[in-house]
Amino acid sequence: MNLAILLSGRGSNFESIYEATQDGRLPAKIRLVASNNPKAIGLKTARSCDIPTCIFDRRRFDSGKDFTDFILKMFLDYEIDLIILAGYMRKIPPRVVREYDQRIINIHPALLPKFGGKGMYGIRVHEAVIDSGEKETGVTVHYVNEKYDEGKIIAQEKTRVLVGETAEELAKRVLQIEHDFYPQVIGEILRKTGTKS
Ligand code: GRF
Repeated sequence: MNLAILLSGRGSNFESIYEATQDGRLPAKIRLVASNNPKAIGLKTARSCDIPTCIFDRRRFDSGKDFTDFILKMFLDYEIDLIILAGYMRKIPPRVVREYDQRIINIHPALLPKFGGKGMYGIRVHEAVIDSGEKETGVTVHYVNEKYDEGKIIAQEKTRVLVGETAEELAKRVLQIEHDFYPQVIGEILRKTGTKS
């Protein structure tokens, strides 16, 4: 199975997925790490792991069609089976969503459908969870559609919000859960996909 990772920043989830492909937990290969942000740390990490990288900037394309064609060609060229968003901060063009129906997934650091949508990313998610007085939060892995954080939920992992916990402390704890949970869920998806073909 060939994986593509799309990221915009730090890329710690990419690293945990990469480790899982290296130690045998994930029977898959990361063929490509792509980003809209040339400064994403995750791109540097990918280069140091000898994984091909690609940077794309929508503004450099004359039209949305050209941009979509470019993205689709990139996935075709690398024979990508599953596209994994890991801190990717842009929407996926509708034609790509259709072509890769149920083959694009994302991770969100809260229990969707709560605390998702436009502008709900990074520390803001955890601040909102704490401000709302929720006793529970967690991680959601979901399929990607044209809207932010609205695709069908695949799996969730819950954790309690601790008394007096700050948003920063909660963010750290949730990120650690993501690092175990995302490779695990990807593994389950790959096993299901493998048995279908
Ligand atoms: C993670 O919290 C993930 O849930 C969200 O973006 C963050 C990315 O972190 N979608 P990293 O770049 O993988 O470190």
